[in-house]
Amino acid sequence: MKICVGCDHGAIELKKTVLEVLQEFPDIEAEDVGTYSGESVDYPDIAQKVCEKITSGEAERGIVLCGTGIGISMAANKIKGIRAALCGDVFSARMSREHNDANVLAMGGRVTGFGPAGEIVRAWLTTPFSNGERHIRRIKKMMALENK
Ligand code: RB5
Repeated sequence: MKICVGCDHGAIELKKTVLEVLQEFPDIEAEDVGTYSGESVDYPDIAQKVCEKITSGEAERGIVLCGTGIGISMAANKIKGIRAALCGDVFSARMSREHNDANVLAMGGRVTGFGPAGEIVRAWLTTPFSNGERHIRRIKKMMALENK
């Protein structure tokens, strides 16, 4: 599975941790689309870079990071086909996969410590979508909102 990872200047260090955690998974190929320095960048640009990898089919999933995770998750969710979940705990990360089939994980570099973030990423990567009928129905309704 290919995963695209991006961050703004508020989460450079967290991105390093995320990339290290991804290396634990032999079946995962990670692509880092930046940013690469502490110079200020705009999180919507990073969200777009990551999410377009997914909508184009180049990557299956993405991880987006900014200072709080809020702006970049909001931006990601503006892109058709994206279900970005801002997670600060393992339970939410699991549920975002099991119930919401999240294809993007968002976290905040100024909010979540490296240890918990690693656990969140591991949970998010290893939890499958439940495929439950009610969850499929709700996701279909959610995605239909893109056209409202
Ligand atoms: C950048 O300073 C900061 O606003 C950004 O990283 C993020 O927290 C926005 O939601």
